[in-house]
Amino acid sequence: MKNQTRKHSSIRNVIQQNILRPMLATVLITLSTGSLHAAPFGSAEDIGYAGKVWNALQQAQLAGSGRIVSTPYQGSHPHGAILNTIDSQITVEGQQGTVIVKNNYGGEGVSKQAVANNPDKYLMAVTVMFKRPGYDADNKDWFWVKYAADGSVMKNPMKMALAGRVAKGMPEGCIACHKAAPGDDMVFNHNRYAQ
Ligand code: HEC
Repeated sequence: MKNQTRKHSSIRNVIQQNILRPMLATVLITLSTGSLHAAPFGSAEDIGYAGKVWNALQQAQLAGSGRIVSTPYQGSHPHGAILNTIDSQITVEGQQGTVIVKNNYGGEGVSKQAVANNPDKYLMAVTVMFKRPGYDADNKDWFWVKYAADGSVMKNPMKMALAGRVAKGMPEGCIACHKAAPGDDMVFNHNRYAQ
């Protein structure tokens, strides 16, 4: 009798594993892809648009090998030990807008002097805010993107590409943190674009 019970329960286990597990997996996959679709950033469209922004930045000599290099300064978390930042205007898909490009430098031996001498060696990321009229009224119409030095879009630990309305509605990320900027344009450095 004991044996039979064990047998039954092991059959039940097998049935549960083979039927319930895949069912659960399907439910989880559906839920997670559902939420991915709803994510306000990291879509193929966002990544495509980020590519166009990068091209426009290269043309304007604001990114890439021929870029204008300004004097590096001491940075703070999360952007890196040493930074430089340039404000300008670029045109993407026929739409002209303000752009802020922040180069984030780090790595062993990083210092203002080292970066000034060899900016490419220490460039860890390029974080960009580009104002697209009508794009995101809740957040001053900024398109947010974090590139690697080669212009590819970087990902967060959840493997989501950091381009678009980055982490909108979430407690951490570009938008959440920049909401705390003084003034009225989600920019820390100045309040010029709030007028
Ligand atoms: C935890 C807070 C925090 C997060 C997250 C954050 N930033 Fe920033 N960001 C700052 C601070 C503070 C400054 C100004 C100080 C500095 O230069 O480091 C800044 C400056 C900038 C600037 C220069 C304009 C300005 O506001 O002065 C850009 C561009 C920028 N961040 C882009 C991004 C992008 C894109 C992301 C997301 C991929 C991001 N930031 C995530 C805190 C944050």
